[in-house]
This record gives sequence, C-alpha cells and structure tokens, in this order.
Amino acid sequence: MRKHFIGIVLILWVGAIFGMAQPTQLQLTSQVNNGAALQDSSAEMPGKYNLASKPGELLRHPPAIENVSDKPNTVEVSLVAEPDRLSLLPGKLTDVYAYNGMVPGPTLEVTEGDKVTIRFKNNLPEETTVHWHGIKLPFAADGSPLHAVAPGEEYVYEYTILPGSAGTYWYHPHPHHRTAWQVGMGLYGAMIVHPKEDPLPNSISSKLILLSDNRFTEEGELDFPDPGTRQARMDEMNGREGDVLFVNDQIMPTIDIRKGETQRWRIINASGARIYRLALEGHTFWHIGSDGGLFEKPVEKQEIILSNGERAEILVQGTGQKDAEYVFQTLPYDRYMPHTRPKDWSETKDVLRVSYSKEKTTKLAQIPKTLRFVPPIDTVEATGTQTMLLSQGLINSKKMDLDRVDVTVPYGATEIWEVENLVGMDHPFHLHGFQFQLISRNGQPVTFRRWEDTINLPKREKARFIVHYDTYPGKWMYHCHILDHEDDGMMGILEVLQPNQQSTKMETQ
Ligand code: C2O
Ligand code: CU
Repeated sequence: MRKHFIGIVLILWVGAIFGMAQPTQLQLTSQVNNGAALQDSSAEMPGKYNLASKPGELLRHPPAIENVSDKPNTVEVSLVAEPDRLSLLPGKLTDVYAYNGMVPGPTLEVTEGDKVTIRFKNNLPEETTVHWHGIKLPFAADGSPLHAVAPGEEYVYEYTILPGSAGTYWYHPHPHHRTAWQVGMGLYGAMIVHPKEDPLPNSISSKLILLSDNRFTEEGELDFPDPGTRQARMDEMNGREGDVLFVNDQIMPTIDIRKGETQRWRIINASGARIYRLALEGHTFWHIGSDGGLFEKPVEKQEIILSNGERAEILVQGTGQKDAEYVFQTLPYDRYMPHTRPKDWSETKDVLRVSYSKEKTTKLAQIPKTLRFVPPIDTVEATGTQTMLLSQGLINSKKMDLDRVDVTVPYGATEIWEVENLVGMDHPFHLHGFQFQLISRNGQPVTFRRWEDTINLPKREKARFIVHYDTYPGKWMYHCHILDHEDDGMMGILEVLQPNQQSTKMETQ
C-alpha cells in the first residue's frame, strides 16, 4: 500500500514538473448537469470527470444522470454499460467497464413519488443486469440474475419510488457468477432518493462518498488473478480487495469545512469485499441514517462499521481547529479467517482529508433532535420464521440454483428471519425487494428502529430481523454481499407469491 502510494505521488510529481497533459479523449460532452441537492465542485470543471485527480484535490461528485423528461414527477434516463479506457490512476489509462463513460457511473437522483424509467443498453461483450440495491420495486425491474440482459440488448427498468423510501442507495450489475468481475471492472454508481420535504435544513451541504477499492498492475491495468494462483484462492476466500482506495473517482480527495459548519455525508460501501471501519481524527459525528433512510434520532458515534452494500448517513460538525487538517480513515477490522488475513489488514488506511479554512467561524448549528417517524413492524404480526445458516460459500448448506426457489411465502405476510453465521469470517447479508428492521444481535435487543437491506454478520454471530412482504410479489435474492461469495453461490431465492396465489409453503418446506 505504502509503496504503491509513493509510486503514485512520484508519478504526480514528475507529471507536474513536465506539465503532463491529461488525455482529452476522455472528456464527457454531456451529463455534467449536477443534481441540485448535492453541492460540489465538479460543476466548475465540466469534462474533467475521470481525469484522475491528484491526492489532495477537492472532492468532486459523479455527475448526475440527465433526466430527459419534462413531465413532473417523472425521471427518464439512459444508461449504457460498455468497455472503455479511462484514467483511474494519475497519468495512466486503464481498460474498464463504464456506465455512460464514467467510473463510477453517474448519480441517479430522484424524489419519492417519482415514476422512474431507465433505458438500459448492454454494450458489454457479456450479459449483465442493473440492480437497484435497496429500492422497493417490481420484480421485473430488480435486475437480478433472473433478468439477464444479453450483449447488444436493451432493457427498460420501470418503477415508482415509494413514499417513505428517501435515502442513499446504489446500483450495480448482478449477472450470475460475474458480479465481482463486473463491479471490479468499474460498474457501480450512486442513487439518491430525496423526500418531498427534507427534515434537515438545506443550509447543511451534502457530500456523496462512494467508497470502492481496486487493484492494479504495474502498467495501470486492473489486476485480476489468473485462476488457480494463490491470489485467486485468496480472493475466493476473502473476496477481492484492492490496495487503492477510491472516493467517487478520486484517491484521497479533500473536503473543505469551516469551523462550526455542519455537513451531511452520504456514504456507500461499493467495495466488492472490503469492510470499512470509518472514523474521523479528532471528531465524533452524528449517525443519522442507514440503508433505508433516516433514523428517528441522531446518534453520536466515534466510528462506524460499513459492510459491503451498506450505506450510512452522518452529520459531520466543524468542531476542529481553524486551518487544521484531519483524516477520515478506515481503521483495522478483522473480518478474516486467520490463515487468509491479508498482510496489511491491521493497517489504518486514509480515505479522505478534511481541511479547515482560515475563514471566520460560523456558529455550530443545532442538530435536529428528531428526524422522522420510523413505523414499527410489530413482532406480534409475525406468522413465520426463516432460518438462514451461513457457512463458507453456502446458505442452509446449499449453493445458488437459479431454477430453485428456496423459500415461498404468501404475499402480505410478516416474518422473522434468524440469520446465523456459522464460520470464522464475516458475511454481510442482503435481501432484495424489502427493507427490514433488526430486532436483535446475539440475543441482545437492538436499541432503536431503523430500515436496513444489508447487515453484517460478524464471525459466528446471529441476528434476527423482521420483514413485511407488503410491496411487490416475485422472486427475490438473498445473499452474502462479498461479491466473490455471491458469485460462488452464497445466495438463495425467496418467492413472495402473487396476492391471490395459494401458498405452497407446506410442500416446499
Ligand atoms: Cu447489492 Cu443482490 O445486491
Ligand atoms: Cu460471504
């Protein structure tokens, strides 16, 4: 890591001296239209997206995807996945897969109640899908491996954003056995659902922090190990981690802050396998939201663990010193089996820098005491229990089979899921189609209600959550979100029957 980083700094330094020109063929001609709600610096540098920035440059947001509809409450966008050659590392070009010519893809910003249409074109040499992680939508729009889009084909994703689902989401491919590869090649992007009225004052500026990591060869190409090598076996076991950490498309960018200022950070873990333990030097912060949006009340935290696929919203307050710098870091987190722990697992890694201006202090804003009401799912309503036993590569001792339904439930039912990790490494568990409420971890009741679609199951731990199948029927995936594990078959299918369909639960269980 350190070595690699010094290498990058060297390239930058040499580049700066010789005035190294950035390749111009990467310039984007459209879609640098930034969403109103995300204030950032990329608006001032149209065409600069994916020109690898030097560490220390101001954080920029991926451009918002252009809405071509002029009808109210309607969002119509086009999304293309295709091979591209972009600059991810300063001074280097890399073969990638990109959405609309960018890594990460453009941000999809919508509002509750919007009717969303995404015209998707697959220009990749292989099949793919687009999965809208965490969004409640009709089965046909879920982009699961059951709706693969062949090379050259188009697919229209259509859904309405349900009330109450404001929050931070993301999108990524979900083809059978190929998700880790396609996400690793660059296919992932952020999605933000705004409420009709935000409980947080809009004097608070918003930052998007889309976290990912990747591994490169000396030449700057993406590094995927040859099958059968030691590295390939390590990646199968741990999931593929990279030593270069990206925030949006940048390495170690800077966020400017004024003393007293409050900022809202929307953080997404889009890494295929890395789990982040995030902390800001010299600061606590307010944890205000999870996968399915805001909590009822802010919670003060020193650090936060964000597993793969999970999102967090936090409020960072400028309580540091004027003119000083603080690093937002990922602290060591041991999610591994002892014999396959990567060498650098116990190192703290820098994610981004927070830089205080010399400007006059503003008065520290009051954080709202309540954010919104999170309606409880009543455990008294639960009519069934699903037990999910996670072992290495398997759920309930089975590997994924696209032609098999693992669990069948009637539409409208409420159930408790008991998920238990039987092995000595973490497995983050994700359910499609619904948001659920955690009840307990290892028998300890959870202290407050929140909406989740992904929870980490640390080594040999158990969690219980409650879910109401109240939105759409269909076949919904549940799986480990370490993408190599998912691809290897650590996934199953929950079928929620049509409202008028007879339950076949008796026969299948
Ligand atoms: Cu983020 Cu089934 O995936
Ligand atoms: Cu796993």
